[in-house]
Amino acid sequence: MNHNLKIGICGWGNVATGLFEQLNKSPKNQSLEIVCIGARRDNPICDPGEIKVHRDIFDVIDEEIDVVIELIGGTETARELISKALNAGKHVITANKAVLYEHGNELLKLANQKNLYLLFEAAVAAGTPIIKMLSNDLGANQVSKISGMLNGTTNYILSNMENGVSFEVALEEAKDRGYAEPDPSLDINGTDAAHKIGILASLALNSNLPADKFHIEGIENISAADFKYADEFDLTIKHLAVTKKAGAQIELRSHPVLIDKNSSLGGLSGVRNGIQINTDLLGEFLIAGSGAGRESTASGLISDLIALSKHVESSPMNYPEFKDIPQIKPFESLDFSYYVYLEVQDQAGVLALVSQIFSENQISIDKILQKDHLADGKVPVVVFTDLIKESQMQKALKNFSEQSEIYFSKIIRIEN
Ligand code: HSE
Repeated sequence: MNHNLKIGICGWGNVATGLFEQLNKSPKNQSLEIVCIGARRDNPICDPGEIKVHRDIFDVIDEEIDVVIELIGGTETARELISKALNAGKHVITANKAVLYEHGNELLKLANQKNLYLLFEAAVAAGTPIIKMLSNDLGANQVSKISGMLNGTTNYILSNMENGVSFEVALEEAKDRGYAEPDPSLDINGTDAAHKIGILASLALNSNLPADKFHIEGIENISAADFKYADEFDLTIKHLAVTKKAGAQIELRSHPVLIDKNSSLGGLSGVRNGIQINTDLLGEFLIAGSGAGRESTASGLISDLIALSKHVESSPMNYPEFKDIPQIKPFESLDFSYYVYLEVQDQAGVLALVSQIFSENQISIDKILQKDHLADGKVPVVVFTDLIKESQMQKALKNFSEQSEIYFSKIIRIEN
């Protein structure tokens, strides 16, 4: 049976107005009543009609409501709002991955202590179901690995670049469509995906929130040429965030990868997110769907409201225990094959120098391409390596940067 829920929404941006519209649209949502909104300013895209609006978002907590929906974003004010709401006896629903990543341990413990629920389905992959599924439906499983394309904006940009659109144009489109963060550098530099994999790692592998420092890299350096070289070997470029059991430790990383074009993740384009999960009982499976935008996020938020309306006596989720927290395996000790892109002087002996640096670092070359010409007597050299340690590759990159004949070098790791 569904109980009626009285709701206060904090925030009045793209996501909050999207939620408002969806709640008003469907007769299925009749038991979900919006009592008030906390909005510092009006939003021309949505008129809240007769609903009471507080200019101080904290006033929402004092209303007679069952649940506060935190949609203000950011970390510190959001943390204060969530804590105050829980301390005032209100359940909280949030789509805010940054606040969960930074303060999840403290906030989930507070919710537990107060016998209240802090739900966050929309914080990862927007409405594509993953949080309650990991927490509840996979309860019988040991998860060994999660590989996620977890940022809709970067997948939108990369798949458009693959079709010849420039990075800048694709980013503007992603902003116009409401996919990007208010500060899009969080999408582009891999931080948003890192927050999301941190949350999934916590639910599946009991890591901490905040997570310890791990390798985070964005898509800023990916160029049209990389897609062209990748395509020669049926590969494409995606941004991937991965967590994996590694003995008593875990792997945690967020960076661009070269991946088989025809793989389940490699084939997902546009704003779609994809999450591949490996477990002992189910083997490998994939969840994919729209990972950003007002409709998709509203879907995730309403799924939490429905879960809450059905679970008055017991939690709709199982939270991580935050004990025996596994350490993160040092990134330098991980093994990858690499795509290495170099721009070198077009003269005799430079290729031999490149080979020598690989050889001195015990890096075995799988393939090498040198066919294009750039301006100013430069040529691109592209090398695919065999499997080596990250530390070996970092040493070789340092060696490349010390040569006057080698002007530029970058790598993309290859994900199998
Ligand atoms: N900016 C985020 C993305 C929104 O593009 O995935 C959803 O979390």
